[in-house]
Order: sequence, then structure tokens, then C-alpha cells
Amino acid sequence: MENPKLIFLFISLLSIIPWPSQSSSNSTCLETVNEIRFTFYTHDRSLGDGQNVYSVARSIITDQVPSAFGVVYVVDVLATYGPEITSKKLGRIQGATVSSDLREVALDVIVNLVITEGEWKGSTLNIFGRNPLEDEVREVSIVGGTSAFKLAWGYATTSTYYVNKYRTDYVFKYDVVVYNTTFAP
Ligand SMILES: *[C@@H]1O[C@H](CO)[C@@H](O)[C@H](O)[C@H]1NC(C)=O
Ligand SMILES: *[C@@H]1O[C@H](CO)[C@@H](O)[C@H](O)[C@H]1NC(C)=O
Repeated sequence: MENPKLIFLFISLLSIIPWPSQSSSNSTCLETVNEIRFTFYTHDRSLGDGQNVYSVARSIITDQVPSAFGVVYVVDVLATYGPEITSKKLGRIQGATVSSDLREVALDVIVNLVITEGEWKGSTLNIFGRNPLEDEVREVSIVGGTSAFKLAWGYATTSTYYVNKYRTDYVFKYDVVVYNTTFAP
């Protein structure tokens, strides 16, 4: 563990782990923090054939504010390793996004990356955060995961890779940095 950032993470984690009292024979110890980095792209379509983003609710002021405040979307979109829809598959992004800023277009993202292919098949990463779509680069948190990503945490930097002129088709890029935490008994 030569990377000073990882040492800092390690020390930070130590302070939040509930340590058993000294008289107890059972203790928990953080064993490893491995950094995993990968990039994926999502293919969102809100109209027409292959629609995979649906608005399911709106507020009474949605039409009166430029940010479309109050719209709730449910999504189930393809995630691939490359930017083309035919690129190698990773899985799907499933969950909800909520337009929750009265002034600018910003989505609250509550989604899972459901990995359906490869060595992490059957695992999920739980993504949560604010995504101000008009910013060039946004950041969302990775707050957890399952299976190969149990106890994972990290973040994803996201940007709009492609948008069509009707603003109905989007390709979003996600650069993921995730820490795989393992605890020794
Ligand atoms: C300690 O571990 C043993 C064996 O796994 C278990 O039976 C016991 O309930 C644990 N004690 C506490 C205080 O967690
Ligand atoms: C995280 O670590 C555990 C335990 O070493 C391992 O089984 C799992 O495959 C790792 N996950 C990833 C995504 O590398």
C-alpha cells in the first residue's frame, strides 16, 4: 500500500469501523482496498423504437420552469464498453432519475449498473448522485455493490458523448473508479 491516497483511505476507514471492545474475541479488520477502473457507455432513447427511458410522473410546475422540475424517469438502458451500440456488452443501467432542480437541468440519479456479461456477471454497482446534464463533466457516487462488488465504493465521472438533434437519443460515458474492500475475520 504505497499510494498515499490509499493509506489515507485506509486510516479513514479505520475510524468508521465499529471496533469491538477489547474483551471480545471477535474483531473485524479491513484487509484490502483494490482500485478498479473501467469505462462504459449507456444508450438512452426517450422516444420511438427501442425506447428505454420513460417519464412516469411530473409536477404541476414542470411546464413552467426551463429545468423540467418534477419529472420522474424510469430507465433500463444498455451499457457497453465502447461508444457504439454494437460495442462489447457490459450490462444495463436500471433505476430512476428525477429532475430535481428548479433552476437548471439536473437529475438525481438512483440507478444500478446490472452487470450481465464477463467476469463480474451477476454483480451490481449502486450509483447515486446529482447529474447536472448541462455541465461538460459530472460526478456521481458509487455507494455500494453486490457479489464481486460487495462493500464497493467509489465514483463515476460522466459526460455526454453523443446527443441527436431532437434530444431523444443520448450516449453517456461513465469513467468508473471503484474500491473493492475486503474484511478479514
Ligand atoms: C464470535 O464468533 C463466534 C464464532 O463465529 C460466534 O459464535 C459468537 O457469537 C461471536 N461473538 C460475538 C460477540 O459476536
Ligand atoms: C473483490 O475482492 C473479493 C475478495 O478478494 C473478490 O472475490 C472479488 O472478485 C473482488 N471484486 C472485483 C470486482 O475485483
